[in-house]
Amino acid sequence: MNLLDPILGGPTARSDAASRTPVRRPFAPRPLADAADPASPAGDGRTRPGKLIAVVGARGGVGATTVAVHLAAWLSEARGRTALVDLDLQGGTVALALRLKPGPMPREAVEAPDRVDDLFMERATVAASERLAVLAAEEPIKDAVEVGGPAVQALLDRLQLRHDYAVVDVGRPQGRAARAVLEAASLRVLVGDASRPSLRDLVRLRAAAPSRPGARVMTVLNRLGAPGELAMADLVRTLGEPPSHCLPYRPVPLAVAAGIGEPVFRHCRRFREAMAWLGADAAGR
Ligand SMILES: Nc1ncnc2c1ncn2[C@@H]1O[C@H](COP(=O)(O)OP(=O)(O)OP(=O)(O)O)[C@@H](O)[C@H]1O
Ligand SMILES: [Mg+2]
Repeated sequence: MNLLDPILGGPTARSDAASRTPVRRPFAPRPLADAADPASPAGDGRTRPGKLIAVVGARGGVGATTVAVHLAAWLSEARGRTALVDLDLQGGTVALALRLKPGPMPREAVEAPDRVDDLFMERATVAASERLAVLAAEEPIKDAVEVGGPAVQALLDRLQLRHDYAVVDVGRPQGRAARAVLEAASLRVLVGDASRPSLRDLVRLRAAAPSRPGARVMTVLNRLGAPGELAMADLVRTLGEPPSHCLPYRPVPLAVAAGIGEPVFRHCRRFREAMAWLGADAAGR
């Protein structure tokens, strides 16, 4: 038994020695017991682009990155090759959550989108596992980094050609890059918690429906069961309808899982069950 088991509520894949090792190794993909579907038949011989999923936070800190990371990890383990993109090139936390060191930044892509080719993508992405590629950056805080719509579009086009799913952590939907991702996505996952400001902004985000034909919007209520949250009846009344999915409040397992760079659904049954519903719904089958 791993020392982390009592905290995480389940068996962990790594030895105690491994969990203390500061060097991050990609986590091995594992079949998920509750994900019946195999990898997308598109696979490497894909004839159509992978599905683009934009994960948006109603407000800062509500859990958009947590949802993006876990959705991408779930899709990669249960459904097919997945790319995970952190749109915040300076302060994003996707790479941190998986204990990865971001590759050399797509900064050149930001400035010259026509240089985004397969070689560039190979250099810029980091493998979190065999089927999960991460595109993230840690640009200096002092620089003014504004990614333009054409640059984002070029990156997304490449990623969608090479993956069954591309999940983008948009964070707060501000700026040209965020707008470009939202417009291009066939699914918007709006994340909020049960606080009044977050519910208000979830309603406003939902009202800004995608113009793209066939695009879907899904709401995820994160931290269900957190102390001091609104009662479910009030929450549904404020939202105008029940959230599409809820993720449970699990601060300790999440913190420990982030410490070892693994998705928490490996170790926390409640989270695993909730993610299986969310992941299958997002995958669309
Ligand atoms: N379901 C949950 N239960 C407990 N803690 C959670 C849950 N979801 C997220 N958290 C914690 O809340 C904090 C913020 O989460 P996260 O970074 O995902 O939010 P964010 O919306 O991406 O924030 P930011 O606006 O800074 O990008 C993290 O410490 C995370 O571990
Ligand atoms: Mg975030």
